[in-house]
Amino acid sequence: MMPRFDTQTGTDTALAARYLQQGHCVAIPTETVYGLAAHAFDEAAVSQIFRIKERPPSNPLIVHLPSANHLEQVADSVPEMARTLLHHFAPGPLTVLLPRRENLPTTVTAGLPHVAVRIPAHPLTQELLRTSGLPLAAPSANLYTRISPTTAAHVFSQLQGRIPYILDGGPCTRGIESTIVGFEGDTVQVYRLGSISLEALQVVAPRVVLRNSGDQPVVAPGMHHLHYAPRKPLVLTNDVAAAAQELGSDIVIINFAQKKPGLAAVAQLVLSATGNLEEAARNLYAALHQADGMPATLIVAERLPDTGTGRAINDRLKRAAH
Ligand code: TXA
Ligand code: MG
Repeated sequence: MMPRFDTQTGTDTALAARYLQQGHCVAIPTETVYGLAAHAFDEAAVSQIFRIKERPPSNPLIVHLPSANHLEQVADSVPEMARTLLHHFAPGPLTVLLPRRENLPTTVTAGLPHVAVRIPAHPLTQELLRTSGLPLAAPSANLYTRISPTTAAHVFSQLQGRIPYILDGGPCTRGIESTIVGFEGDTVQVYRLGSISLEALQVVAPRVVLRNSGDQPVVAPGMHHLHYAPRKPLVLTNDVAAAAQELGSDIVIINFAQKKPGLAAVAQLVLSATGNLEEAARNLYAALHQADGMPATLIVAERLPDTGTGRAINDRLKRAAH
């Protein structure tokens, strides 16, 4: 049986550190989405993450560290290209796959030879990582396959009673998950599109290859087709007006930049009134949470321009579609 908690929310990093040291899981803010953290070397605590999220143990976790000077705590070696990317993007929304250290619990890496490592930029979590000295294994703080949380309230609504503490760092500034990359020589392989765009990686790395397009074998389970999903069915379309005409008025529309005039719908949400992709990313999951809670049977989402952060947003919307 999982213990029940009277879940508290607050900004006390010392209290969060105490819970983690005692083997509990705590929700933490990052610039991408909230994470569900445990001490990475405490195997029982790491196992709790999987139980709390109802996530299969075959899906490995990202380890969060305060800086690139701490990589050897969990990694055996660091490829030159990984160092180059971290130099440019850390702290920030980049996750690198590195050969794992042998003493890292296999529950963290799900038995894979690599460990996923990220250096989050959020000041509260930076403070927690530095003062506690603990490497923190943390997936997104949502139930398995559900919408990732970008506020403490989102975490509370899904994990209330399952964890003792939510460290509240306000709304996440990036709003979609980190970009996950692996290395083969000088080639950077992108396993999950995310907050750092392909274009941004290409400025720093000579060769960037996308490994998560449809017909590739599943390497990172975040690539599973159904993921990040609201409970309502979601239809992704280039032509909101045509879809709305076909599907009737019992819908919530998620537009990129503008409401569509003359359409009957329960509500129309807008991701960025100025058509800014970074703002759209920041608002994406909150819009999905909101749409999911509205009195309508279906969500109709508009596809975004397939460039920069738009590509990662479309990837999430595709996986939310069912
Ligand atoms: O922005 C983020 O990355 C957030 C915040 C909390 O840091 N974390 C996050 O974790 O999105 P999660 O578990 O929801 O997604 C991480 C993805 C999973 O799909 C997992 O399969 C993949 O990373 N992954 C983790 N370790 C891996 C490994 N060793 N090899 C391949 N894929 C790995
Ligand atoms: Mg996740």
